[in-house]
Amino acid sequence: MFEARVYCERRKRLREEVKNGIVLLPGNEESPMNYSSNTYHFRQDSSFLYFFGIDQPGMAGIIDIDRNEDLLFGNDTDLESVIWMGPQPSVKELGLMTGTEKTYPYQDIEKIVNDAAKKGRKIHFLPPYRAENKIFLEKLTGINYSEINKKISEELIKAVVKLRSVKELWEIKEIEKAVDVAHEMHTTAMKMAMPGTYEKEIAGRIEGISLSHGTPVSFPVILTINGHILHNHYHGNMLREGRMMVTDAGHETSLRYASDITRSVPVGGKFSQRQKDIYEIVLHSLIQATELTRPGIPNRDIHLEAAAVIAAGLKDLGLMKGDVREAVNRGAHALFFPHGLGHMMGLDVHDMEGLGEDYVGYDNEIKRSDTFGLKGLRLGRRLKEGFVLTIEPGIYFIPPLIDKWRSEKKFTDFINYNKVETYKDFGGIRIEDDVLVTAEGRRLLGRPVPKTVREIEETMAK
Ligand code: GLY
Repeated sequence: MFEARVYCERRKRLREEVKNGIVLLPGNEESPMNYSSNTYHFRQDSSFLYFFGIDQPGMAGIIDIDRNEDLLFGNDTDLESVIWMGPQPSVKELGLMTGTEKTYPYQDIEKIVNDAAKKGRKIHFLPPYRAENKIFLEKLTGINYSEINKKISEELIKAVVKLRSVKELWEIKEIEKAVDVAHEMHTTAMKMAMPGTYEKEIAGRIEGISLSHGTPVSFPVILTINGHILHNHYHGNMLREGRMMVTDAGHETSLRYASDITRSVPVGGKFSQRQKDIYEIVLHSLIQATELTRPGIPNRDIHLEAAAVIAAGLKDLGLMKGDVREAVNRGAHALFFPHGLGHMMGLDVHDMEGLGEDYVGYDNEIKRSDTFGLKGLRLGRRLKEGFVLTIEPGIYFIPPLIDKWRSEKKFTDFINYNKVETYKDFGGIRIEDDVLVTAEGRRLLGRPVPKTVREIEETMAK
């Protein structure tokens, strides 16, 4: 945990953003895999962590706006639990760690929230994403399970997004630690990417690196020689010369901050000319997007610039044609770059996505597009100092998408389908860094992971 004052200050700032009522923050419970005592790795709710910091199940918090007090709920471990799990801090001690003097047995939350509801006080809660938390909210508020998502507090969502979007100094340090572990994971993957090795051997090794630092990966490892399948979690292929291996993976620190890095490397360690051609376009797009990153600029504009670099590069290779700007404005580049440039990152790898993507990435000024490609952009709004985000352009050759667009004669003014056909065996390339928006512009977070052709070839030769 951070020091207690960090959580006190965050709760104080939340009070300044929410007018009245009580803010209800349930933590997460253990989640069973195949029977109740065989659980998945426990993951605390990120907003509960942000305001109360306690990383264990069986906890809930209330921030009472009207009475200017914070309440923490949980049960002390009984002897039975101590026998199985060893001594645990009492709820009073946990309360002190998070700067909360008022602690109660877990079950008391029901009466306190029921009373508040009867008095007509506003009860704010965030969108629940786990069924048991929906049931818990039903029990506390009396709102029917099926109606819970309609009664979430937009005021609270906006307040939490406002606070969590701007990272504190100690949060940035945590994210940098996560990137440093990702450096070890990715350079190991690069060195292992030799013909005859199986994807699962590398995926397992890098997940093990994350665990050897004490905590798991920040999301399931994507590692594949079929990089055109954007989130490919299948790891059963044997690596063979001529393929690119895409690794999209990150670490979660002990305080639950994420990294999210992608690298694409040639199996065997040497780029062919064709691989280098495509790689350099993606790298140029990443560099251009990174240089544009600064406070005040809409991330949507950076996405479109990154797309224009991709379209221009593909035009130089004869895969696209026509006016580059027009091609991008009309969405023709999305055949090759069908996703967004990046997303916020912090306690969640897609930070705060559970609160609603559009609350995080869009606002009254910049609305989400419904055009294929651009609609996948999670962060479109103007950037602010303190935001941490990913920048992750890519080029993919996706045979079913190519076939569909070709059969529909889509964007024939901009796409040279005959040439594209010859790349259907290519796969895909994505390169991703984690970046902090600073007053001056931006700063790459953590130890830089090799990304130029030379750096990658040198790393793979070791
Ligand atoms: N890096 C995985 C994702 O952004 O979903």
